[in-house]
Amino acid sequence: MWSGFPLFPETASTVAGRIDNLYFFLVSVTAFFTLLIFLLVFIFALKYRRKSETERPRPITGSFFLEFIWIGVPLVITLIMFTWGAVLYFDLARPPKGALDIYVVGKQWMWKVQHPTGQREINELHIPINRPVRLTMATEDVIHSFYIPAFRIKKDVEPGKYSTLWFEATQTGEFHLFCAEYCGTRHSLMGGKVVALEPKQYQAWLSGGAADETLEEAGARLFQQLGCVTCHRADSGARGPALEGKFGKPVLLSSGETVIFDEAYTRESILNPRSKIVAGYPTVMPTFQGQISEEGLLQLIAFIKSLTPRQEGNQ
Ligand code: CUA
Repeated sequence: MWSGFPLFPETASTVAGRIDNLYFFLVSVTAFFTLLIFLLVFIFALKYRRKSETERPRPITGSFFLEFIWIGVPLVITLIMFTWGAVLYFDLARPPKGALDIYVVGKQWMWKVQHPTGQREINELHIPINRPVRLTMATEDVIHSFYIPAFRIKKDVEPGKYSTLWFEATQTGEFHLFCAEYCGTRHSLMGGKVVALEPKQYQAWLSGGAADETLEEAGARLFQQLGCVTCHRADSGARGPALEGKFGKPVLLSSGETVIFDEAYTRESILNPRSKIVAGYPTVMPTFQGQISEEGLLQLIAFIKSLTPRQEGNQ
């Protein structure tokens, strides 16, 4: 409704309208009470002003009814705000199943994007509309923040961990992409555009860009090059656990704990292998810190995700 207003971004994702509704609710409640209080201060100042030098106010005895109202009404309003906000927050935190995975790496001062089919772009993000897209994001240096105002989404990308963000675009077109966390001298230039395309056009765009290998293939190549394959094998003499079909499942550690084999666990195990050892295996894996970039890590993860058990009973 505000799309003609120059300070207000377009509404181009499924959550954008819901975020705006909450935003306008918060602003309306705040504006209403601000006006009410100012008005009452004014009226009471006139009504109860001292009318003569000898006037003494009547003593105040208190009122249970009034106290009930000024505790009850704000409580109900803030609980509405809390519930409304929490529902939206949880919806934004959980990407729907079957979302298209796209990987993003922030570095001073650009956003690097990798599509599963291997296409890469810098400071541009091509996406299909009417399909949930999940971004897995990492940074090579300092904290950045990935921000698409037209989709009403923003998330910090912090060193040493993955952030995820999801959205579903509803309109084709080009939208601003920003870095929303001050990250150095060229922070203000760290951004570009999101290009939302019809699914067919997106497919055409994918096949138009010359990608020599998919993300999984790039990961498979790294898996060979870095020598991961020498230990992570499916046979009985392997020194590391086989990785086929393990992604997304719980893993029992030598400490007795269980962790989920997810992106963060994979990344940690590559860079800091000693922190979580799979039960039944020796602590022999060397660290790959400094030998692999954040983009390479995402490629390896894409490859490990794609591994399925080759046959029954070989894990
Ligand atoms: Cu990256 Cu500001």
